[in-house]
Amino acid sequence: MTTSNFNIEKIIAISTPEKEEVTFCKDVIEGLSSSPKFLQSKYFYDCAGDSLFQEIMDCEEYYPFNCELEIFRERTKDLADIILRQSTSFDLIELGAGDCTKSNYLLKYLVDINADFTYRPIDISANIIDYLHLELPVTVPGINVEGLNGDYFEMLGKAKDLSSNRKVVLFLGSNLGNMLPAEAIAFCQELRQNLNQGDIAIIGLDLKKHPATILAAYNDKAGITSAFNLNLLQRINRELNANFDTNQFEHYPVYDPETGSCKSYLISLEDQSVEINTKRGFKTIHFKKNESIFMEVSQKYTPEQITCLAKQASFKPIKMLYDQKKWFVDTIWQVL
Ligand code: TRP
Repeated sequence: MTTSNFNIEKIIAISTPEKEEVTFCKDVIEGLSSSPKFLQSKYFYDCAGDSLFQEIMDCEEYYPFNCELEIFRERTKDLADIILRQSTSFDLIELGAGDCTKSNYLLKYLVDINADFTYRPIDISANIIDYLHLELPVTVPGINVEGLNGDYFEMLGKAKDLSSNRKVVLFLGSNLGNMLPAEAIAFCQELRQNLNQGDIAIIGLDLKKHPATILAAYNDKAGITSAFNLNLLQRINRELNANFDTNQFEHYPVYDPETGSCKSYLISLEDQSVEINTKRGFKTIHFKKNESIFMEVSQKYTPEQITCLAKQASFKPIKMLYDQKKWFVDTIWQVL
C-alpha cells in the first residue's frame, strides 16, 4: 500500500541540479515501490559516500583494492608491452578513473619510455576530472591528460570524435562486477561496438575464492560497509526530505559460491513506514518486518567465465594478469 501525490512527468523547464533531484526521487520511489524493493547503487556516491568508499578501500578485509594495486605495480612492464605491440599513438581511456592510484603506475611507466599517448579519464564526477587535470601533471610530469566528465558511453563517443587514435580502455576495480551477469555481457558488447579493430580493453575482475574471504570483504568488522549502505538512506533523508530511521535497518551481505554473486541488502527490522516529502509531493513507503532492499551485486568470476564473457562480446582474450594469491585478475582483450 502506498500513498502519494507525485506527478514528476509534469515537471518541465527546470535546472540541471533540480532535474538530477527529480531523477533521483523518481528512481528511489520506483525502486522502493517494487517488489522486491531495490535501490540503484550509482546513488551511493554523494560526498559522505565517496569518503566511506575510500575507507572501505583501506579496510583490512577489503582485499580487491590491494590485489589490483599489486598487479599494476608488479606487472607494469607486461601491461605496457602489450599496449605497445602496436607502435602507433593511442588514447588511454579510463572508465571511472577515480584518483587513478592504480593506473598511475602505468601512466608513469608509459611517460618514462616516451610512449605517444593521451590519457583520457572518464568520470561521472566533475570534481574528480578537475582534480586529475591539476594533480596528474604534477605527479606524472610530461603527461598529456584530457579528462571527460559524464556518462561512460557518451564520453567514449566524444573521445572518438576528438581523435582517431587507437584506443586502450581501462575498466578497473571490479566495477564490471557491480553489474548482474546479463548486464555485464550487454555492457561489454556495447564497449566492443564503440571500439575498432586492434583496440584493447583491460578489465579488472574479482575471482571466486573461499566464500568466507569474499563475504568478509563486504562485511568488515568496523562496520564501514554497513555505514556505506545505510548512507544511501541518509542521503534520501537529506536530499528528498525523507525520515528513514537507519537504526531500524541492518546491512546484510550474502555470497553464493555457486553463482559467484555477492549481494548486499538492507533488512527492515520492524514493520515501518517512511515518508518522502519533497516540494513536489509526498510518498509513504511501507516496509514489513524482515523485508529486504537489494543494494548492489559484486559478481565473482572464474578465469573460464571471463574468457567466455570476452567471446560473447566479440573480444579476443589475449592475457590474464594475476596478483600473487590469484585472487584478482586484470584481463586483456583485443578487438578482432
Ligand atoms: N567494484 C568494487 C567491488 O564490488 C568496489 C565496490 C563497489 C564496493 N561497491 C561496493 C566495495 C560496496 C564494497 C562495498 O568490490
